Amino acid sequence: MEKIILTGDRPTGKLHVGHYVGSLKRRVQLQNSGEYDKIFIMIADAQALTDNADNPEKIRQNIIEVALDYLSCGLDPEKTTIFIQSQVPELCELSFYYMNLVTVSRLQRNPTVKSEIQMRNFETSIPVGFFTYPISQASDITAFKATTVPVGEDQLPMLEQTKEIVRRFNAVYGETLVEPEILLPDNKACLRLPGIDGKAKMSKSLGNCIYLSEDAEEVRKKVMSMYTDPEHIKVSDPGKIEGNTVFTYLDAFCTDEHFKKYLPEYNNLDELKAHYQRGGLGDVKVKKFLNSVLQEELEPIRARRKEYEKDIAYVYEILKKGSEVAQAKAAQTLAEVKAAMKINYFEDKDLIAEHIKKYSEK
Ligand code: TRP
Repeated sequence: MEKIILTGDRPTGKLHVGHYVGSLKRRVQLQNSGEYDKIFIMIADAQALTDNADNPEKIRQNIIEVALDYLSCGLDPEKTTIFIQSQVPELCELSFYYMNLVTVSRLQRNPTVKSEIQMRNFETSIPVGFFTYPISQASDITAFKATTVPVGEDQLPMLEQTKEIVRRFNAVYGETLVEPEILLPDNKACLRLPGIDGKAKMSKSLGNCIYLSEDAEEVRKKVMSMYTDPEHIKVSDPGKIEGNTVFTYLDAFCTDEHFKKYLPEYNNLDELKAHYQRGGLGDVKVKKFLNSVLQEELEPIRARRKEYEKDIAYVYEILKKGSEVAQAKAAQTLAEVKAAMKINYFEDKDLIAEHIKKYSEK
């Protein structure tokens, strides 16, 4: 069986370093591993509209931002199909049929949807499209016969839902769809990178993100203002590592190589942490180190972005071509789905012959 990746992001804003360690970096590694037969990366504009119906302009403006972020991280349009969800109408058609295989109460139990409903204060006015987006996500995944879906752990319930739909579909209509596997980030610190203020999540509305497209000086300022241990006042004070954003970021980004290069008096992060906990190590020194590590990682991303920014027409061309390739693949799966469901009347010669016979014998 072919190994196929599908994943994507809602285009509601520029991507930040949380997206990078949580998924983008991994996608580029997977792309370059040569282990996958096909890779599809989707800009999920239709899903973004499920809770932004009154603000399509925001989505429209952010498609190019997300595309630039993808390309600047090293996703290569020669190896990876980058496409826009709404340009593949087959996905809607699949969702319409999958809706018959899912109950309302099952959707109501989806923990991600539950918490998102709370966050958005929808209460009793939940848009139907939003409520059913786990089904649409199952269409995204199954349309491409994805075997592997690299996403953050908040997407686990979506993958569970998808697997249930696949099993149900195959049981009712015969073996047609492929059950996908989730691929979580392997580094714990990468599961959810906190904001620079120490809040659990990086979010645009909290203003606590470091964006991939930010220049070096802005990144430096943000690192120097990061939340650490509020009780670590004097350099000589013992400091806490848990909940200390600077150390969480180091867990996510730094390697022993970085120590050799920027902080050779320590061999690795464990030694640095031990010194901080003992006391005698100031925040500024640790922050400066983190800044060096981050800048090294972000510099090639910024450089690539500058190149692509010079040719936006080409980036739109990549998205257009990618959407055509994606559509062809989804159309193939949809044809198989309709054949399995026996709603492919005009291709069903037996059906037509049977009815000719039925009426000729009358
Ligand atoms: N729900 C994902 C997010 O919020 C985006 C997404 C839509 C997705 N369809 C998908 C991710 C299919 C993986 C597979 O970021």
